[in-house]
Amino acid sequence: MFNRICVIGVGLIGGSIARAVRQQGLSKTIVGYGRQEDEQNLQKAKQLGVIDDYYLDIEPAVQDADCVVIATPVGAIESIFTLLKPFWSDQTIYSDVGSTKGSVICAAQRVFGYIPDNLVPAHPIAGAEQSGVDASLADLFVNKRLIITPSIATRPDALNKVRHCWEQIGAIVSVMSAKQHDAVLAATSHLPHILAFALVDLLGHKDEQNEIFKYAAGGFKDFTRIASSDAIMWQDICVANKDEIIPLIQQTREQLDRIQHLLEINDSQQLFETFTYARKARQRFLEQFETTMSKSITFKIQPGGKLQGEVRVPGDKSMSHRSIMLGSLAEGVTHVTGFLEAEDALATLQAFRDMGVQIEGPVNGCVTIHGVGKHGLQAPKNELYLGNSGTSMRLLSGLLAGQPFDSVLTGDKSLSGRPMKRVTEPLAAMGANIKTTEKGTAPLRITGRAGQLNGIDYVMPMASAQVKSCLLLAGMYANGVTRVTEPAPTRDHTERMLNGFAYPVKREGSAATITSEGSLIATDIDVPSDISSAAFFLVGASIAPGSDLLLKHVGINPTRTGIIDILRLMGASIEVLNQREVGGEPVADLHVKYSPLKGIDIPEELVPLAIDEFPVLFVAAAVAEGQTRLTGAEELRVKESDRIQVMADGLQVLGVNAQPTPDGMIIQGGSLGGGVVTSHGDHRVAMSFSIAGLRAQAPITVLDCINVNTSFPEFKDLVKTLGLNLDCEETSDLNDSASH
Ligand code: S3P
Repeated sequence: MFNRICVIGVGLIGGSIARAVRQQGLSKTIVGYGRQEDEQNLQKAKQLGVIDDYYLDIEPAVQDADCVVIATPVGAIESIFTLLKPFWSDQTIYSDVGSTKGSVICAAQRVFGYIPDNLVPAHPIAGAEQSGVDASLADLFVNKRLIITPSIATRPDALNKVRHCWEQIGAIVSVMSAKQHDAVLAATSHLPHILAFALVDLLGHKDEQNEIFKYAAGGFKDFTRIASSDAIMWQDICVANKDEIIPLIQQTREQLDRIQHLLEINDSQQLFETFTYARKARQRFLEQFETTMSKSITFKIQPGGKLQGEVRVPGDKSMSHRSIMLGSLAEGVTHVTGFLEAEDALATLQAFRDMGVQIEGPVNGCVTIHGVGKHGLQAPKNELYLGNSGTSMRLLSGLLAGQPFDSVLTGDKSLSGRPMKRVTEPLAAMGANIKTTEKGTAPLRITGRAGQLNGIDYVMPMASAQVKSCLLLAGMYANGVTRVTEPAPTRDHTERMLNGFAYPVKREGSAATITSEGSLIATDIDVPSDISSAAFFLVGASIAPGSDLLLKHVGINPTRTGIIDILRLMGASIEVLNQREVGGEPVADLHVKYSPLKGIDIPEELVPLAIDEFPVLFVAAAVAEGQTRLTGAEELRVKESDRIQVMADGLQVLGVNAQPTPDGMIIQGGSLGGGVVTSHGDHRVAMSFSIAGLRAQAPITVLDCINVNTSFPEFKDLVKTLGLNLDCEETSDLNDSASH
């Protein structure tokens, strides 16, 4: 993207940008600039390989740079503009990372007399209490918000390049006015920092007389954590944004006066109402925050096309989760390759980092986990946020039930609506203490009961690998034997991987048995491609005339291959080639060619073995000849969306006769039209309707596709390379961003 980037100020943020740019290969050369007194820091940055070279003179630093990033505190930006002015070039894009934006634009106006059109002010909402290049991280901005505040002068091409660069680094980019940015940040970031600083200042002085900190409780720590942030930076920010901050301080003062008054007149009812309102408002903020985190993505698919070529789809999601969990609990260092770098698996990875596990990567699917041993997890400081991932939440609930610390598991809107009683009830029978909402949904509040869980002999009422795995993980911390019996075979990656880590799990018929006797020994894991991701191409190539595709290194664990069996029953041409075993899991290359499909009654015993593949199988059924009937699949109603209803609704929009039933669907195959459908935020629904485009007679628009990132971020690019005409449109709703 760039030949030479110059980072002015190589501290935490500047260093992290340099690292991320290097990791993503976005610039051939990265140089740093700093003042004389920063030389030691710059030297360190060079030694660490964060930058290629550094300068203490601005002229050679910015010479030939096609991008200059100013990563100094906001208070220094005006003097940096002054330094840059004589060497300012039209060919270069200038951006900054200042926490206030009106001040940056005003500084430019003062120095240049106008606002340069190649200045793209930006603000990454990411950071850490530590500072300096030592603390910099290549993934500091991944899934963090980045706000661009163009001036009226900013050139669209410059804006787009900066946006694209940040997206490559993993940030979620929004665009808004500097004024809006500053007002929003004053309320949600600057004021809380001032309150924290003010409180600690007040109590610090009291402590000098009375040593009150000795008795400080968790509330003090939580409320004042941000007061450990860099004082110079915050002094700068507050001064730069004082016009927005001062009225907010006034309002806070009035609010405190009101509370003081309520106490004076003993109005506990009003006090209760104020606190209750605040509690609910916080919950609402958190929920809104989540929705605003999602920019919206729309897939637009032109009808027709065929899939041709060779492809290795990303790593298996189920195995990626488990590799992090078991690697963390192991003694020694586990190396994982083929790890799925998608939001769900990354949520698990982050949860274990939050519990004190040192995990390096992922870089190109490689992750290194420094295991802490079965009893080495530490209490997370905050709630563990698991995004969209049911597997993370359900498996973690079992693992955390028997820990010596408490924890809270939260998730996004979809995950917060999914049933958790299926895990909390059997866990309660083992002696666990987990609170859910009244509806039996997340957040899960787990009181750790180390040493107090007892084994269980549990016959699962539904075929669920997540429930089975949850109980096996709890069983590793329970007294006596834990035995889980499944009504039908479900994916057995937990059992296989536990064995791979030398932890004994016995399998007899439909039961798996575990005890707390044993420890996990680190091992290397090669995660094969996810057959659930390959499924979109298996169906796509089967339904699009002229298709011929080789899917490489796909996991074909027999508990996962229902998709192949069902498609073959429908008449698909799928060859399983080069079968081999990799790290205890069977793997093969799958060769699929177009073949006309016919409708079938899907055998119920195949349902759990293809449980995630039905959305795309419904698309296959829609273009098959005759009727396809699915029964025994009520579980589909409680996946990331109600996949029976959502797929039936969408197929009907596309002109297909698809009738939902309580436990499945009846589809009369025929032709597929076009239209606008929504995925309801379900990744597999989004990808399934995209694949439908191969046989559609008119364009298909699929709304709400952001969650494709939970399992298959590369989908849109890959499917395009292979022959589907898919365009991805991203939009950030400006007003939406205001709640940040
Ligand atoms: C999974 C199990 C299945 C599956 C999910 C992943 C796992 O869920 O749908 O995508 O990794 O254990 P259920 O256990 O709810 O069937």
